Amino acid sequence: MDQVTYNGLTFEPYIRREQIDRRIKEIAGTISAECEGKNPLFLCVLNGAFPFAADLFRAVDFDAEISFIRLKSYEGMGSTGVVKEVIGLSEDIKGRTVIIVEDIVDTGNTITRLLDTLKEKEPAEIKVATLLFKPDALKVDVKPDYVGFAIPSKFIIGFGLDIDGLARNLDDIYVLKENN
Ligand code: HPA
Ligand code: MG
Repeated sequence: MDQVTYNGLTFEPYIRREQIDRRIKEIAGTISAECEGKNPLFLCVLNGAFPFAADLFRAVDFDAEISFIRLKSYEGMGSTGVVKEVIGLSEDIKGRTVIIVEDIVDTGNTITRLLDTLKEKEPAEIKVATLLFKPDALKVDVKPDYVGFAIPSKFIIGFGLDIDGLARNLDDIYVLKENN
């Protein structure tokens, strides 16, 4: 597919599906080398990470489990105004290796909040696997362990990433065109 349009905005192809596939297999290889034998629990952060998590999880060839969580935003009294509550975690992660699977690490606020919440449950270790990482957008000091693609701070959609809930089903990743 060439250009796509959502909400009157035009996006152009940025990362093709073949490239995504290759990279996911590489990450799975690295995770296998580090986590095989630990029966890690993959934690897919809905909604955006579901295509990445599905492919990554099927690309690992050792015993592992997967579960799904959501982060619910609500207006809080904190400095940012928005607090995120973790919902859906039913597993006991005490003493386990947990691999958080995210679609994107942007400001780093969401993943930091999630890490803080999970650490309270005393896992043996927590790794972060993210398909995309915008290092220039970081507002907190956090470093994902497994990164698919480090990209500039541009708005992207596809392969799980949305614009107002749409575009998650695009097979490739698209970037917002300049001069829209
Ligand atoms: N696209 C979609 N969702 C996002 C992005 C993005 O670039 N950054 C953080 N959430
Ligand atoms: Mg979104």
